[in-house]
Amino acid sequence: MLKLGVNIDHVTTVREARYRGQPDGEPCPIEAVRLTEAAGAHGITAHLREDRRHIQDRDIWAIRDAVKTRLNFEMANTDEMINIATRLKPEAVCLVPENRNEVTTEGGLNVANQVESIKATTEKLGQVGIEVSLFIDPDPEQIEATAQTGSPVIELHTGPFADSYAHESKRSIEIERLIKAAEHAKGLGLIVNAGHGINYENVQGLFSVPHLKELNIGHSIISRAITVGLSQATSEMLTKMAGYDIE
Ligand code: PXP
Repeated sequence: MLKLGVNIDHVTTVREARYRGQPDGEPCPIEAVRLTEAAGAHGITAHLREDRRHIQDRDIWAIRDAVKTRLNFEMANTDEMINIATRLKPEAVCLVPENRNEVTTEGGLNVANQVESIKATTEKLGQVGIEVSLFIDPDPEQIEATAQTGSPVIELHTGPFADSYAHESKRSIEIERLIKAAEHAKGLGLIVNAGHGINYENVQGLFSVPHLKELNIGHSIISRAITVGLSQATSEMLTKMAGYDIE
């Protein structure tokens, strides 16, 4: 069964737009955790960025306390974040690249040029029981490098797939890249997740990509929640994902 991790960062993006610097405000990310889990989400994803543009430190601790499923903590590979993660003890950490000027995470992590540093982080987090995933482009070099780090999981960057979705020829090139990457990773014993830019329209376009375990989806679900509420937005996505059967 294809699992859904709901990324709740944008609940706090809305709150910070009005209440930045204040200890409270709405909407509340903890209510979002409760509603998405009650609607059937298999996990909660949250990204504590270096610039704290959405999730704040107090949020991540409150989210840790509230999550009953699985917390996937997205973070940059920095000493500050490693320190927080080892105390927070999420079930999973997804290492992502961070750039202050980006609107959201833009490209995958360049694992190939920092194998040793990611290997050290994976070991450190592994020692406290955290499973490390690397957010990478569907690129053979990055997959090989991931295997060298000892990280057991990859999250394939589906942004280019999502961006090309309206153009049939470009879309099939991106799907082909994802299929090859998933097969390659599975062959190396890696667990394969995917995320970024997935929405209600394109999600079933990923059904031809094999071995997917979990999709991490944020923007589209939080956007849909504005009109139909978070419970319905989550269950509509789960319904769309239900037909996936290439394990
Ligand atoms: N996965 C990763 C690694 C991300 O950085 C993001 C965006 O924060 C997502 C998934 C979710 O992307 P989207 O908000 O486009 O669904």
